[in-house]
Amino acid sequence: MSYLRKHIDAMAAYTPGEQPAEGEQVIKLNTNETPYPPSPRVLQVLRQTDWSILRKYPDPMAGKARRAAARLWRVPPEQVLCGNGSDELLTLAMRAFVGEGDRVAWPTPTYSLYAVLAEIQGARAVEVPTEIDFAAPLDALAEVDARLLLLCNPNAPTGVWTPVEKVLDLADRFAGVVVVDEAYADFGPASVIPAVKDRENVVVLRTLSKSYSLAGLRFGYAVGAPDLIAGLAKCKDSYNCDAVSIEVASAALEDQHWMRENVERIRVERTRMADALSALGFGVTLSEANFVLAAVPGGDAAGLYTRLKSRGILIRYWNQPRLEDKVRITIGTPEENDALLAAIADLMGKETP
Ligand SMILES: Cc1ncc(COP(=O)(O)O)c(C=O)c1O
Repeated sequence: MSYLRKHIDAMAAYTPGEQPAEGEQVIKLNTNETPYPPSPRVLQVLRQTDWSILRKYPDPMAGKARRAAARLWRVPPEQVLCGNGSDELLTLAMRAFVGEGDRVAWPTPTYSLYAVLAEIQGARAVEVPTEIDFAAPLDALAEVDARLLLLCNPNAPTGVWTPVEKVLDLADRFAGVVVVDEAYADFGPASVIPAVKDRENVVVLRTLSKSYSLAGLRFGYAVGAPDLIAGLAKCKDSYNCDAVSIEVASAALEDQHWMRENVERIRVERTRMADALSALGFGVTLSEANFVLAAVPGGDAAGLYTRLKSRGILIRYWNQPRLEDKVRITIGTPEENDALLAAIADLMGKETP
């Protein structure tokens, strides 16, 4: 007999990208981290922080970081909620907007955590297939009868971006709340935040894990209408952001220049990688994120993943419909990307492009 609730007992847990063992040297291109260090201001904060702050509970609303995010997007702080990574904010959205048995929708394929969170909540998933080119199925999504729609933009693991006007149109037509997960938006053309900040049914999620090089910090924030933000806040833990992360996140948000420079480096490499992989015969989906999804020539993506792993290079592979012949490759430093291309070319018996 299990002590777990029936549906928790039955469900599969979320599978994160694998982490190398401590001390193991690998080229890690599997979890969409940025290969460059965080802003020097972050390091300065870590060095200068008065460690007595750890003795006391942190600000429950992470006010300093909240105000930094609010200044960045020119919204009142009441329209921002900070969280322990955007994963926590996704959990809060599920808690706040979706009851047991309610419907929650997303296009597939997308970030696989959505399905896990819906299952934990006991919600009913409505999975709407993306178009043949992985474009968001906007008309079908607009018509779905669901309390919540999760739209990852740019999408993971495809990198496909839905333009701002189309997101606005979808939000107008969809009857429930639209959560736009912008984990990768800094690598793309634009954020929807300036256009949707006054919409009553939209919440946008941002993270410092990717473009700000702070995946280890665990910090994200939501921007949306004051009522929705207040509702999300009701569902959070009392002190969901720790005192150090509040200081560090505030400093990182204030150094836009550093973030932008790193993003630009990644975008240049993204183009180079897409061209080089295409030259090797891969079918590369046009990406606006810090990774590319690439169809492996001959289709043996699992084999490529395993062979690269045995050479100390980690990329991501999913054995699921529409992805089983593809791999997702995070854009690394030029040197890491060169090593990956050389390894792939060698495995294929081709010249490195
Ligand atoms: C689409 C998407 N949303 C959210 C997250 C979670 O980000 P965080 O580190 O802020 O929890 C990820 C992480 O991989 C992601 O790919």
